[in-house]
Amino acid sequence: MTAFRMMTPAFLDAPGPALARMRAEAPVVRVRLPVVGDTWMTTTDAAARAMLKDETRFVRDPYPVTGRPLSSRFWWMPRAVKPLFGGLLSSDGEKHRRLRRVVDAAFARTTVEGLRPDLARMADALMDRFPRTRAVDVSAGLCHPLPFKAICLLLGLPEEDEAWLHARVSPLSAMENLPKAAYAMYRLGGVMAYFQTRIEMARRGGHPGLIGALAAEDTARDLSDLDLQTLFMTLFLAGHETTVHLLNHAIIAIAGDDALRVRLLDPGADVKPLVDEMLRWHSLIMVSALHVVAEDTEFEGVALKRGDQIMAGLLAANRDPARHDAPDTLLPDRRPNAHLGFGFGPHVCLGMQLGRAEAEIVLTRLFRRHPRLVLDGPPPGWRRRVGLRVRRNVVVRLEG
Ligand code: HEM
Repeated sequence: MTAFRMMTPAFLDAPGPALARMRAEAPVVRVRLPVVGDTWMTTTDAAARAMLKDETRFVRDPYPVTGRPLSSRFWWMPRAVKPLFGGLLSSDGEKHRRLRRVVDAAFARTTVEGLRPDLARMADALMDRFPRTRAVDVSAGLCHPLPFKAICLLLGLPEEDEAWLHARVSPLSAMENLPKAAYAMYRLGGVMAYFQTRIEMARRGGHPGLIGALAAEDTARDLSDLDLQTLFMTLFLAGHETTVHLLNHAIIAIAGDDALRVRLLDPGADVKPLVDEMLRWHSLIMVSALHVVAEDTEFEGVALKRGDQIMAGLLAANRDPARHDAPDTLLPDRRPNAHLGFGFGPHVCLGMQLGRAEAEIVLTRLFRRHPRLVLDGPPPGWRRRVGLRVRRNVVVRLEG
């Protein structure tokens, strides 16, 4: 069986035809990704859901199956950030449920609706600072800093710490090869120590945001400081870049489509379905985290061996005609839209309400302020980021 390739510009530009060929082969096929190598990937919505729900046959932590911890794959990572591999995204079963219960409870105390006025204020302040040049890098000026500020706000971090934190987190956006990834991880080391100081403050009481809410949770008492540091770091990593690229993609799509622009400019329009359709259609996270097959098994008619690697194909599911009519067409009013852009099952995205709110706020405020905004040239090229479908910075002309 030949392995399909997913990181080529041709695939990233128009994945529909290649995904249809994969689906015609089987609900689970071989794909080849840089760093990861050859792995199984699901090609249908039903197979992705079945895989992500099945915590017995498919596990994220390879150690019990292969005897090798996940961190051994990433030997080049500094010690300070290795605990990330035992965190929320890469744990299974009871360990994951325990972590997830604590964060879910803390999230329930911090309403995203309550953050909306601050998010709008932040978006406006960033747009006020757009340079008065012909071409504006809207990714650098808005799409990147706004989600960063949103996570700081969610966690309850002071605005005066943002510049320091940003300098440490921003190399993550440039992780297109091993040296750059190693450098980005090295820069993150100090952030774990920073979170420790915030945890200590929260334990003394009165810390705002999610950090304060977590410290107040009874169930969080079982968690070590390292668990909490890792949790905050995971929120930073999972919640920042994802939203950056949702915004980048959406601005490119709207700037190039007058029907979308008109809809967004209508003050009575509900932009929620448009944001969800962007998530489905672009599927910026093309695949779930890597899982390991825990036992020899037949899955969706395909024989898998204990120790094989497998991922849920989220983009493939989101373009599956058995789930979505005309899946390769962006339909701003698509309803229902049960996409897997936020994943599925026990690890479904924790921050989906925040990500959606950021997109609604930024897109409406940007295009209502600059209704004639267009791209300054053709859409930017693709970044080489394993498993992601994300573009380089978007440069626009604000006044057409
Ligand atoms: C809007 C853009 C976003 C997209 C497209 C997105 C997508 C996803 C996806 C696909 C997963 C599941 C990955 C898997 O199963 O391996 C996930 C998990 C997660 N997301 Fe998001 N996300 C977004 C925004 C956010 C935000 C704003 C936050 C934080 C405030 C966040 C926090 C998380 C966390 C903590 C997880 C791991 C949950 C777990 O393992 O239990 N995400 N996200």
